[in-house]
Amino acid sequence: MRSLIAAFLVLLLSPSIAFGWGRDGHAVISEIAHRELSPEVLDRVTEILGGRHMAEVGAWADEVRRQPAYRWSAPLHYSNIPPGEPAFVFERHSPPEGCAVAAIKRFSQELVDPELTDDQRREALKFLIHFVGDIHQPLHAGFAHDRGGNDIRVELLGRPFNLHAVWDSGLMRAAEVGPWPEYADRLHARITDHQRGAWSNLNPEVWTTESYQLAVTFAYAIPDDGKLDEEYVQRNIAIVDARLSIAGVRLAQLLNELLGEGDELDAAVDGEAAVPVGG
Ligand code: ADE
Ligand code: ZN
Ligand code: ZN
Repeated sequence: MRSLIAAFLVLLLSPSIAFGWGRDGHAVISEIAHRELSPEVLDRVTEILGGRHMAEVGAWADEVRRQPAYRWSAPLHYSNIPPGEPAFVFERHSPPEGCAVAAIKRFSQELVDPELTDDQRREALKFLIHFVGDIHQPLHAGFAHDRGGNDIRVELLGRPFNLHAVWDSGLMRAAEVGPWPEYADRLHARITDHQRGAWSNLNPEVWTTESYQLAVTFAYAIPDDGKLDEEYVQRNIAIVDARLSIAGVRLAQLLNELLGEGDELDAAVDGEAAVPVGG
């Protein structure tokens, strides 16, 4: 009986089931970004956040999305694409209520808007950290008709799940990635300068299209019986590893661009950060 109550409490308290990446995913992305920021931009970010670490605020947007005051933000956690379309095009695919791409554009502007208050800029930064992460989760760029896999019932290693939650946090748990600080450490240690250059891109429409293609090729590619086995886990934890790493690097590149003044920032926009000048 005691273990039943314990299991219930764990379920009740486990944060953001079927939301963004789980809490750990956002912490990993924030930690990687933290390490990739230029020293001057890290100071500015820490100042805007009132001394808090990015990893502490990465999941904030999921915590508030059901509160009446923030219900407007619920559609901003994903960008859906109609079946058959090859790419996300903002003018065609962003609905009136907004989407993750619209949110990233809006909060990028608000972060550097001198007319706004410190509180408004802090909120813009917390939203930006979160939505750059979310849009790198393949099923946050899925189909509207199944709500990014939320309506698809599956079994992950014999336990009932919805497909969206498998990708938010289920794969990480099934692959036993361990505590998030160690997972972030491992992922960050593996990132090469070649990858930093290859991933360098500040266009959220491109990020969304990548996620969508991964959703179609990997996430939605499930067997008819919906039973996801060890092979599905091993194939797809590699995608999760890559998307968390890419999201962290790009979040840092975006913040270095928005909040920095140095000229390393121009390189990030051109996608040539890894190309040595004159080399
Ligand atoms: N609701 C509708 N589409 C969604 C998506 N792609 N992710 C999360 N929630 C959604
Ligand atoms: Zn989210
Ligand atoms: Zn999610």
